[in-house]
Amino acid sequence: MKLFAQKTKAVIGIDIGSHSIKLVELTGSRNSPKVVAWGVAPLPSGAFAENSIANAELVAETLNSLIIKSGAKTDGAAVAVSSSHAITKVLGMPTDLSDIELEEQVSIEALHFIPYPIDEVNLDFEVIGPSTINELENDVLLVACRRSIVDDYIDLVEDSELDLRYVDIDTYALERVYRSQNSLSSSSDQPVALFDIGSSSSHLMVMNHERVLYSRHQNFGAGQLIKLIRKEYGVSAEEADEILASSQPPADFVTAVQDPFVEMLRQEVSRALQFFYSSSSYSNIDSVVLSGACCALAGLAGDLEVKLRTKVSILNPLSNASVQSRREAAAVAAPGLSVAYGLSLRGLH
Ligand SMILES: Nc1ncnc2c1ncn2[C@@H]1O[C@H](COP(=O)(O)OP(=O)(O)OP(=O)(O)O)[C@@H](O)[C@H]1O
Ligand SMILES: [Mg+2]
Repeated sequence: MKLFAQKTKAVIGIDIGSHSIKLVELTGSRNSPKVVAWGVAPLPSGAFAENSIANAELVAETLNSLIIKSGAKTDGAAVAVSSSHAITKVLGMPTDLSDIELEEQVSIEALHFIPYPIDEVNLDFEVIGPSTINELENDVLLVACRRSIVDDYIDLVEDSELDLRYVDIDTYALERVYRSQNSLSSSSDQPVALFDIGSSSSHLMVMNHERVLYSRHQNFGAGQLIKLIRKEYGVSAEEADEILASSQPPADFVTAVQDPFVEMLRQEVSRALQFFYSSSSYSNIDSVVLSGACCALAGLAGDLEVKLRTKVSILNPLSNASVQSRREAAAVAAPGLSVAYGLSLRGLH
């Protein structure tokens, strides 16, 4: 299975997270995409843990019913492996190598920095473009991932009777969404920080000229929001989710839950950015863009903007797409659909 495949044919983007599976099916073109099917299905606790499939049966059951319920039509699929399981490296390779020579050379280079036996690893590469350092070289992006992690996704999708066309990395799926949104580009020379808030972990990606400059995961997510709700109102995790989805949250929700959560988020974003600054020549960013299902919280971007004193917006992958069904619900779910949307973009020209 190649991590980067060549064919272009509509695919269902399937994003599996520790809280839920998200699905998006796009048709049309990259300039004019149509969402023909979408859906979100919560996973039973423990089915997906530490960014990988922990209970294949439970994940398969949820995925199969989501595919049917969403009305997805094609049988092609794309999934994402968490970048926390991937090793990526940009290599400089002579421009005059043939395809076979390039493949051989990349495999030899890979031996130097992959800390696992090479037969336990799934390797793929993509020529990104001319090197900015050496005009006789191309930059080649090499991606390696433990074969056992990739195999779990292959088995899952094949059990659902789908044809797995792409195994991507979450970072590149989000990068593709970011690039599809012209409105997000930096208004200064500074890079943009994309902060994807999951349930159990978050992912900072720093974007410079539409490319990922830096990527890092941290153990913080909207699970903290659920913990705050459970503690404050003495409810179960399922009831906490219902409170979040409700249009009438408790009267003291903002002061008792949302404000403390935004303060935690501010600390996490600031800490993640400090790590980035200390590993780069940058000391500032242009703005922060948030994604993840918890971005449906009313006022989240504005609250964080005040605390961070930096412009904050919410990623809306559907902003230039036409949505065929459940439009209002899709608009609320949109920030959580980002990875699935970016995966489905792989199938469009
Ligand atoms: N309408 C909503 N408002 C606020 N929070 C929400 C809403 N819907 C879901 N959430 C919260 O968002 C989190 C799920 O987000 P998301 O689907 O992005 O996570 P995930 O991809 O499953 O997790 P991870 O990436 O950590 O594996 C849950 O903690 C859930 O409670
Ligand atoms: Mg996620």
